[in-house]
This record gives sequence, structure tokens and C-alpha cells, in this order.
Amino acid sequence: MIKLHDLYFKPFISEKEIDTAVQTMVDGIAADLGDEVPVFIGILNGSFMLVSDFVKKYPKPCEVTFIKLASYEGVKSTEDIQRLIGLTQDLTGRTVVILEDIIDSGNTLEEVHRIFKNENVKQLIIATLFYKPEAYNKDFKLHYVGMEIPNKFIVGYGLDYNGLGRDLPDVYQLKTTQHMTNIVLFGPPGAGKGTQANFLKEKYDLIHISTGDVFRFNIKNETALGMLAKSFMDKGELVPDQVTIDMLSKEVEKNAGANGFIFDGFPRTNAQAKALDELMENKDSQINAMVALEVDDEVLVERLLERGKTSGRTDDSDENIIRNRIKQYYTKTAILKDYYADQNKYFGVDGVGSIEDITVRLGTVLDKL
Ligand code: IMP
Ligand code: MG
Repeated sequence: MIKLHDLYFKPFISEKEIDTAVQTMVDGIAADLGDEVPVFIGILNGSFMLVSDFVKKYPKPCEVTFIKLASYEGVKSTEDIQRLIGLTQDLTGRTVVILEDIIDSGNTLEEVHRIFKNENVKQLIIATLFYKPEAYNKDFKLHYVGMEIPNKFIVGYGLDYNGLGRDLPDVYQLKTTQHMTNIVLFGPPGAGKGTQANFLKEKYDLIHISTGDVFRFNIKNETALGMLAKSFMDKGELVPDQVTIDMLSKEVEKNAGANGFIFDGFPRTNAQAKALDELMENKDSQINAMVALEVDDEVLVERLLERGKTSGRTDDSDENIIRNRIKQYYTKTAILKDYYADQNKYFGVDGVGSIEDITVRLGTVLDKL
């Protein structure tokens, strides 16, 4: 992912795919023009990179020149095309091939046709690397198209967003979901996960998705997914990951405009972590970090025994049960720690100290995401 000015873009078309498309355009045009010496005309600024790569590949003699037009403001095409540099040579009787980086509304192309109306060229051929058929609203024929793309704003390979991005060798697409901070919150029993999740949620305006709560909500409200989950639980079987993922997906959708999410209680396995990555990718987003509260076993035991005295939770009053729960946590989460560490997304945070101190430590991690 990259950021240009205020916007985030994700990889869309690789340098290699572009190269193949340019080569195909070159082959088609060279074959059709035979021994004609064409004048290739690039439309500046966007087409400089295409024109350079194109003519290097062109197998026969040719001429190259440019005209400079401007129509785009920010991420929108405007009708008002400015002619900044026009034609500077006589093209009477010549075969002219316009090389465009992209054809969107077709307004620029209309201006190109206006420019050539009285030039008496032999033929005017239009070639564009990228073409957005859904946005095009003119009738001019496009003789060669490198690649059709959906009606999304792109940058790279000559194309810019307010001046930035032209230098990128690959093409990126504007993300429909802009930046989110999504974390997977981990911590052994007694680490203070719930307390800290509440603070983080407030401070960063995140949605806390506790898988346990989501399950209880779906079952209590007898949603289709809740009933499905219950049917497995009633048989004493584990609920399949896909059911849980579908529930989480609904939660994410319900809060589509959120700044981000805190996932709590999920994932617990590698397969679930992968499924969560896919879910976020489908939402044009990603998991940014696994944040784990690290607390020494002895401190945990002490804290839980203390809590057991007042909470009445039986699993908090037996030291053996407590130690076993802590052990289980480490056996289960070690794999996940590796999963996220491999992507440089694991952040361990010292969970011993005052609640405020720990919140500050977590904040230092989240501020960097
Ligand atoms: P049209 O006049 O709407 O066809 O747009 C043509 C010009 O707008 C191109 O030459 C580009 O300079 C610019 N443009 C169109 N679509 C995009 C895009 O997705 N990203 C960046 N610039 C674009
Ligand atoms: Mg252009």
C-alpha cells in the first residue's frame, strides 16, 4: 500500500503486466503499419513513460513528438481541457499515432480530434495503454487498447494524483476503504485485555469485536448464522471457522465507516488468521498488527486469584486451573505469534504496571500503525 498526499492506493497492475500490454500494442501497430514511418505523438504529462517504453520496443524507424493537454483535477476528469503545448511541426500526409496513457471520459481525446481536424494527416490512429469503458462517453474509435480497466482512479506509470505517483513503475488503484487501524488483541487470562480494549476503543475510535459477544448476540437473536452455530454446538461439535468468519464479516460491514477494529478472541489458529486476512482484504483493508499484552505467569496467577476472591468465578479460584489456562494460552498463541511476526506485525507490550502506564505503551504501538 502507498500514500500520496491524503489518499491510500493499493497495488493493481504490475510492471510486468504493463510491459506485456505495451509489447502487444507495439506488435499490433508495427504489423499494421508495415513500412510506413509513423509519427508517434504522446499526450503529456501522463504518457511520457509509455511513449519511452513504446518507442524503445518499436522495431522500425519512427518519429516521436508530444503535445501537452491538461484536464484532470484531483481524482476527477473535467470538461475544460487546456492546450498547454500544441503541434509544432507540419504533419500533412503523415500517419499519426496518438499514444495515450489512459482514456477515461474521452474529453481529452475529443480535444485531440479537434487539434487534428485541419492538419490533413493521412490517418489518425488512437492507441491507449489503459481504457475505462464504463467512463468513456464519446464515439471516437480506439484503434489499439493495451488494457481495459474498471472505472477506478489509478496512479503510477506516468499517471498522477495531484502531481504525485507518475514515477512509479507499477500501477496502483485508489482504495475504496481508506486507512483503518485493525488490530488483533491478545493476552493471557488476567492480562487486562478487556480493560485495555475499552481504553483503545475510546482513544482511537475503534470498534471492539469480541468474538464471544458476537456469538452470544447471534444465538440470542436467533440470526441465521446464530442458529447455524448453535446446531453445531448442540451436537457438541466445534463451530466451523467459516460460520465465525461470516459473523465477523457482518460486524465489519455493520461498521463500514469505522476507523478500525479490535479483534478479540479471534483468530486462534493459523487457518483462522488467514481467513481473517482474506476477510479484511475483501473489505479493501488489512490487519495491521497483533498486539499482545505480556505478563509474567506468577503475576497472572496472583491477579486471577485476587479477582476470584471477589468475582466468585470458580475458574479464578483454583491455582491449578489458572496455571493450566495460562499454559493453554501459550501453546495456542505461539503459532499465531509466528504468523504475525513473519509479516512484521507482532507487537508485544509489557502488561505489568498501572492501567494508565499500559495504555500509554499500547498507544505508542498504535500510533505507529
Ligand atoms: P479523459 O479526458 O477523461 O479521457 O481523461 C484523460 C486524462 O485524464 C488522462 O490523460 C489522464 O491525464 C487523466 N486521467 C484519467 N483517468 C485517470 C486516472 O485513473 N488516474 C490518473 N489520471 C487519470
Ligand atoms: Mg494524459
